[in-house]
Amino acid sequence: MILEKFYENPETLHVGTEENRCFYMPLDLQEKENARNLSGIDWKFGYFPCVEAVPEFQRKDFDEEQFGRIEVPSCWQMLGFDQKQYTNIRYPFPFDPPYVPDNNPCGAYIKYFDISRSEAKEEQFLYFEGVDSCFYVWINGKFVGYSQVSHSPSEFNITGKTKTGMNKLAVLVLKWCDGSYLEDQDKFRMSGIFRDVHLIFRPKEYVRDFTVTTPVDFAENTAQVEVKLDSVVGEPQVICELWDKDTLLGECEAKDGSAAFTVKDPVLWNAEEPYQYTLKIRTPEEILVQKAGIRTISIKDGVVLINERPVKFKGVNRHDSSPYTGAVVSRVDAMFDLRIMKEANINAIRTSHYPNAPWFPQLCSEYGFYLIAEADMESHGAESVYGGSMDGTFSYFAEDPRFKASIMDRVQRNVIRDKNCSSVIFWSLGNESGYGTNFEEAGRWVKNQDPTRLLHYESVHFEPKGHQKDESMLDVESHMYASTQMIDEYFAQPGEKKPFVQCEFIHAMGNGPGDIEDYMQQVYKYDGFCGGFVWEWCDHATYEGRAENGKEMFHYGGDAGEFPHDGNFCMDGLVYPDRRPHEGLYEWKNAIRPIRAELADRKKGIIRLHNKLDFRNLKDYIYLRYEIKKNGVLMEEGILDELEAEPHGSMDITLKLPAKTEERCYLKLTYYQKAKDKLTQVGHEMGFDQFALSEEKEKEPSFENKGEPLTLTETPEAFCLDNEFLHYEFGKKEGNFIQLERHGEALVTAPVEWNVYRAPTDNDRNIVNVWKEAGYDRSVVKVYGCEAKLRQGIVTITCDFSIAALFIQPFLRLHAVWTINGNGEIRVTVDGKRDTSFPFLPRFGLKFCLPEKQQEVAYFGYGPHESYCDKHQASYMDVFHTTVPELHRDYVRPQENGSHYNCFTMKVGNLTARGRKPFSFNASEYTIEELAAKKHNYELEKAGCVVVCTDYKQSGVGSNSCGPQLLPQYRFDEEGFSWEMLYCFES
Ligand code: GAL
Ligand code: MG
Repeated sequence: MILEKFYENPETLHVGTEENRCFYMPLDLQEKENARNLSGIDWKFGYFPCVEAVPEFQRKDFDEEQFGRIEVPSCWQMLGFDQKQYTNIRYPFPFDPPYVPDNNPCGAYIKYFDISRSEAKEEQFLYFEGVDSCFYVWINGKFVGYSQVSHSPSEFNITGKTKTGMNKLAVLVLKWCDGSYLEDQDKFRMSGIFRDVHLIFRPKEYVRDFTVTTPVDFAENTAQVEVKLDSVVGEPQVICELWDKDTLLGECEAKDGSAAFTVKDPVLWNAEEPYQYTLKIRTPEEILVQKAGIRTISIKDGVVLINERPVKFKGVNRHDSSPYTGAVVSRVDAMFDLRIMKEANINAIRTSHYPNAPWFPQLCSEYGFYLIAEADMESHGAESVYGGSMDGTFSYFAEDPRFKASIMDRVQRNVIRDKNCSSVIFWSLGNESGYGTNFEEAGRWVKNQDPTRLLHYESVHFEPKGHQKDESMLDVESHMYASTQMIDEYFAQPGEKKPFVQCEFIHAMGNGPGDIEDYMQQVYKYDGFCGGFVWEWCDHATYEGRAENGKEMFHYGGDAGEFPHDGNFCMDGLVYPDRRPHEGLYEWKNAIRPIRAELADRKKGIIRLHNKLDFRNLKDYIYLRYEIKKNGVLMEEGILDELEAEPHGSMDITLKLPAKTEERCYLKLTYYQKAKDKLTQVGHEMGFDQFALSEEKEKEPSFENKGEPLTLTETPEAFCLDNEFLHYEFGKKEGNFIQLERHGEALVTAPVEWNVYRAPTDNDRNIVNVWKEAGYDRSVVKVYGCEAKLRQGIVTITCDFSIAALFIQPFLRLHAVWTINGNGEIRVTVDGKRDTSFPFLPRFGLKFCLPEKQQEVAYFGYGPHESYCDKHQASYMDVFHTTVPELHRDYVRPQENGSHYNCFTMKVGNLTARGRKPFSFNASEYTIEELAAKKHNYELEKAGCVVVCTDYKQSGVGSNSCGPQLLPQYRFDEEGFSWEMLYCFES
């Protein structure tokens, strides 16, 4: 078919579309929607590799037999058409704006709809909530229009083009258009009619667009609910009503295009208590209903205030994304997200990096979330063109006059659609598109259009050469992945400052994030730090059914054979693609718990509870349960349900705490919800605090001369330790036990090994190259001297050795003393010296392979969640019982997982380990090599043994997959260390 090339012309963005308006469906006088959702499975569909191949399918006489069927909304890549592709920054087509490839895949859609005689008399509109990337529309063979901006709605007036009876709607969707240059968001690239399509009926005269504002007079305790009619067709009489639930608060005629209500003692809206009034805009033939939460947002002395109170955003970045349907997200899907978010104490969402479905901000207003509502705008790939850079080409579109109208259009569509949603507190001009004139103008337009909200844009930190930037219209200092050091520096600067926000931080990719608490300390320390948004809510993947072994297959970049792609960089969410929580979600949840407790006076048992909520008193909302445990045994417990503390205030509680001398004694306070909320239930656990009631002293593991005396013999390779039951062999070249047997049965299935490596996590993606250069992934032991002595039935082996990569100098020099008694208990003390010119170590410890059947696990340390030195917010100190398979965390791309930090003891199968100092361990059915080698969890093959790593230390996990480097305090970079452990095999 021959099309006018609107799709390569940034001067023609829309043809035949209606002006923008706020999102609503009009109601008839019985308050029934006067609209029909055309979504469904009865659309006909043809997929074509290019425009030229598309037949004249819009014509009435087109033979539709050649078309198949498709469900709308959908993304055609999820249904077997075209090619799945995940790319982050790089454009999936040559950079030649405004041109796109001639082989531009097309989806041709046909839908029949009926118009009754009475409907035929009304005005008729087609409302597309979202189509990726652009589309042409025909009714009964007649051209209606063209539109783009995938994540913003387009509306067409089709009155006069329809007839009573059956009508044929034809829509041609193109995969790429000039707008695709501005939709280079980090996601799977999906095409099609991916949001609902509505057929809307309206009278001849009606209100098209209106704006609601809610100024509050805090001194007088009154508010105004103001309605401004921005666009009215004809001259209908307009009556506005304001309702508080079922009570009519007021009614008035909108004269001169506006109406206002005064509300005395207004119940204000905030994310914790999202109270909404209802506004009805009536014309003689139609009703528009708009929920209105009364709230203000402002900045005072560099602090963001909602309703004049300082707030902290504990947010996430959210894409509309599903492993089953791609960019298609139902209300049920969205509600599911919102419920898990609420349960995890999350109060804010950035709609990265485009407007989410139009009803989504309404849900957020209803259920209580603050939104950074972002325009459908990202041109990140401009940075990575040949010879490109962040300081140069990154701002290409920001400066190109040809794209000025497109950028303005995208920003306007975002603001106008959602302007009446209380949830929206920041507008965002987009993401990662550089800076320049086009954004300055768009930003000025927003501030002028909507002075009631704040304006955000992170890419202001860049600008093209020669441009003198104006950022005065931006209200906040927004950063992504700023390090804690950079944040300290920002607040150390003298002078007035904009509020600081991290629109992205805590990159939640794979095993991590490990820097949550460090950031939260800063959020609470600096009044001007209004919070941040974790990158990101969910892993993006496509569900590909089950593997032969029955495991579900989730695919990421490259798995469809596409180019370019960015591998598993899309797997960086707090939840798995199917929304099972990652450990990171639990970490974030407890870091943003509503109460933080402080052990104010240990002797008197005074605990101070700090209410971290911004609006709610603890009273009638939260109760707590305390428990005191000693060595994992419950000593005392109780419930305190008469809490009371103002938001940001505190209260003291007093508990009878055991005497100071009690060791391994912990107090845990767990917070529960007392009253039902819209999305969470009574009794829901909101978070906890734990205190050690005494300082942990080092404990020398008791080692006695027990059991049948050992004999000691020597071969050229090994020392052999024997008694009636035991046979141990210590390898002189290995510097370690190469065989451990009891009653003729092997206690280990392979030699015990010194281990410094871990299966790289996603957050190790940078440091792993340095580690590999240092040879940590293939290190070998060299023994310089090894002696054994027998005294009173006990054997002592001393060993000097080093660990080095195959090709370079040793990075560790060690001296170990092993003592073994007749019971087979092994005590080892190791003194290590690290060559500090080498990078920090992933870990250092001993690795055992136990027989496969030894699956029972018990430990006293941080659990039950996976825990590391920088990732144990969700965990607490206790005695836990579990199994080896349950310790495994099944990251879609396998990696180091399931470690437990700060353990006093560990038991896996028969093997018990105790440390003088707390240690870390993991036990896995998979080898480190296997976890490192496989690209997907369903490809993992079991080792046939239980791999137990007991570590003196393991480095933290951090969030360096995109965030800053691992903080120095979490790196294992000591120059010298000494480690003492006791191992025994119980029968
Ligand atoms: C940011 C970007 C996000 C995402 C993230 C990496 O720079 O804004 O869209 O790409 O990096 O996961
Ligand atoms: Mg990007």
